[in-house]
Amino acid sequence: MTTTPIAIIGTGIAGLSAAQALDEAGVTVHLFEKSRGSGGRLASKRSEAGSLDLGAAYFTARDRRFAAAVRDWQARGWAAEWRASLYELRNGQLGPSPDEQERFVGTPRMSAITRGLLGELPVTFGCRITEVFRGAEHWTLLDAEGVSHGPFSQVVIATPAPQACNLLASLPVLASKVANAAMEPTWSVALGFAAPLSTKVDGCFVQNGVLDWFSRDNSKPGRDNPLDTWVLQATSAWTREHLDLAKEQVVEHLHGAFAEIIGCPVPSPSFTLAHRWLYARPAQPHQWGVVADPELGLYACGDWCLSGRVEGAWLSGREAARRLLEQLQH
Ligand code: FAD
Ligand code: NAI
Repeated sequence: MTTTPIAIIGTGIAGLSAAQALDEAGVTVHLFEKSRGSGGRLASKRSEAGSLDLGAAYFTARDRRFAAAVRDWQARGWAAEWRASLYELRNGQLGPSPDEQERFVGTPRMSAITRGLLGELPVTFGCRITEVFRGAEHWTLLDAEGVSHGPFSQVVIATPAPQACNLLASLPVLASKVANAAMEPTWSVALGFAAPLSTKVDGCFVQNGVLDWFSRDNSKPGRDNPLDTWVLQATSAWTREHLDLAKEQVVEHLHGAFAEIIGCPVPSPSFTLAHRWLYARPAQPHQWGVVADPELGLYACGDWCLSGRVEGAWLSGREAARRLLEQLQH
């Protein structure tokens, strides 16, 4: 096998799933991440109100390989089942909506999972890759500061599709396929209340034009937030229409919609935060697994290659690693 390392761009769950599989196979990897920490959309934001799950609120495990990985994370203390008291807003009526579905969260925060997977693997944080190009034998990466990184034998791009597309300029066939994977935005808002709201709701599926979902962070295992924190997610349609709205106004709209639904007095929050995810979820599901040019050694993976969920992202990263290892053994 090659001794030249493999570059992985992105430390979300897809990039780290690929990294773990490659590392276990004895291949040297180096990860690059534009943010200061790992997790991507499975990250948590630390704030004075506590830790906030502004991206994925929870995840499910339907695939047996992913279910086995989740059991391993549970055994390591990185994840736990969230037995939530779930509600639904249907025809304007808020009502309990229990089901048998197992749902999981990272513990004590979402980012515990990617932090655990990253372990001691070599990573460069705060490094936005802007170009990926191949010389006669190897790949080189260029970052936003103009610094080049390499040589690498293969490259795994594990970013949302539009960002992957930008990095595929030298591979127009792959770029045009990835360009088909449009992604939808989501506004997330966190509210923190000094006194707990008087409601049994832990999480709620909503369809009212503004909100898609909201949940109470402190109802999740391992959380110990000093405030009663709630994360509200707008629908993609509402977000698209209000993409450039000022954060204070986004908070006001989502807070108003929440107060109308929740069915208990909602005082002014003592903490608010709004976060816009430009590439929150794929507009349409694809079943690509991975988009790759194995001859050249370029693999693009992420939730947009599968179900658009944490599980799909993890499976796509695994598939990228499997295909890459298969090619190395040729
Ligand atoms: P990402 O997590 O986006 O990781 C990509 C990483 O690449 C990021 O860390 C990014 O910073 C980095 N990156 C991008 N470009 C570059 C570059 N040029 N150079 C270096 N680094 C770069 N899923 C569920 O299963 N259940 C849910 O309840 C759920 N709710 C969600 C709610 C919201 C608001 C959002 C936004 C998503 C939700 N999801 C949910 C989806 C889930 O979070 C994603 O499917 C999954 O986390 C995607 O993982 P990924 O590794 O493919 O991508
Ligand atoms: P899941 O099985 O809990 O939910 C799947 C869908 O089924 C839900 O969206 C909801 O519409 C419905 N549903 C499930 N249980 C319900 C109940 N008890 N009462 C009423 N409706 C119920 O989880 P899965 O399949 O893992 O999906 C992940 C969740 O993540 C989905 O809710 C999805 O919308 C959300 N998501 C949000 C993103 C965003 O950007 N806001 C991005 C990706 C996923």
